[in-house]
Amino acid sequence: MWRDLAPLGRHAATGGYRRHAWTPADADCRAWFAAQAESRGLAYELDRNGNQWAWLGDPAAGDAVVTGSHLDSVPDGGAFDGPLGVVSSFAALDELRRRGAEFGKPLAVVNFGDEEGARFGLACVGSRLSAGQLTAEQARELRDADGVSLPEAMERAGYDPGAIGPDPERLGRIGAFVELHVEQGRALDLSGDAVGIASAIWPHGRWRFDFRGEANHAGTTRLEDRRDPMLTYANTVLAARKKARLAGALATFGKVAVEPNGVNAIPSLVRGWLDSRAADQETLDRVVAEIEQAAAERGARDGVDVSVVRESFTPVIEFGHALRDELSALLGGKAPVLATGAGHDAGILSGTVPTAMLFVRNPTGVSHSPDETAAEDDCLAGVAALADVLEGLACR
Ligand code: GLV
Ligand code: MN
Ligand code: MN
Ligand code: MN
Repeated sequence: MWRDLAPLGRHAATGGYRRHAWTPADADCRAWFAAQAESRGLAYELDRNGNQWAWLGDPAAGDAVVTGSHLDSVPDGGAFDGPLGVVSSFAALDELRRRGAEFGKPLAVVNFGDEEGARFGLACVGSRLSAGQLTAEQARELRDADGVSLPEAMERAGYDPGAIGPDPERLGRIGAFVELHVEQGRALDLSGDAVGIASAIWPHGRWRFDFRGEANHAGTTRLEDRRDPMLTYANTVLAARKKARLAGALATFGKVAVEPNGVNAIPSLVRGWLDSRAADQETLDRVVAEIEQAAAERGARDGVDVSVVRESFTPVIEFGHALRDELSALLGGKAPVLATGAGHDAGILSGTVPTAMLFVRNPTGVSHSPDETAAEDDCLAGVAALADVLEGLACR
């Protein structure tokens, strides 16, 4: 499976993946998923929101055990974030068949669309729509950097966006959802474990900061006459780092757009996107408020207008103890339990269905980068753990 998946959407120069929603690379990944379903004799379904499902058994029977993750990527992402969960799901199913497992419940593998939000700015679009955490109206307003709307992008990819929206009937058939994911930190490396169980996902969000100043000539405008939004932006980045450090939170400006973007022009506009996360909501609210305040104060000094829009927000997710404890027991009580700052479809679904996550050790902790890695033995340990869990959940 890795061999077939590896070339899809890989950027030759960086070695990173650019599998953005509803692009040709995404279509290739989707075709791969459908082929995997078909080769195993699973019933393939594409739902109203573009999520892909591969069913063993009759979904209508209900109380289904579902596993999966996503195949899209961040800009120049790694090979494992998302795909490891999907590949491991198919591999775990193969393993269960090899064991001769007799399933008492329907089982499915799922690929949720647009988990990373790399193209339209909002993460987990497929699962959010299905779970009713994003309305069809809101989704129709999403646009990429070229102004292409989500429905237009879906149409261009040959998919009908006419029915996007909540899918309570489909989610209502799920008795348990388990997402396996590569760890995106080094907790398992430090504890010396190949596989762990998720306890919680930190609250996190994205905020767009617009710094508006005045375009002018770089060679003739005296420093004291400038209204330079880059200066305000740069100071805001430094303030974000400091406020986050003092609060034990995280704050990142990872994306920036500059107008007019000329070497010899003072910018008229700098638009920076803040991603901020913390262990609890109160800390996150405080840190973001402090960063906004620092930006406003600096803007006043620089003659720059600052406005801030919250583009997305995901509250803290506590995975339910019952399923989490069940996973722990099925794994012999040895797997460590850890919280993460990364968002996942499992977090979105957890409000609607019993949900749990397994993490596979990441020896460097690097993720959202072409350097993301996981050892083959650990990936196989992940498959074995997922198979044990699915067997325990679906074969009773
Ligand atoms: C997605 O991986 C996120 O947590 O931003
Ligand atoms: Mn990711
Ligand atoms: Mn992911
Ligand atoms: Mn994610």
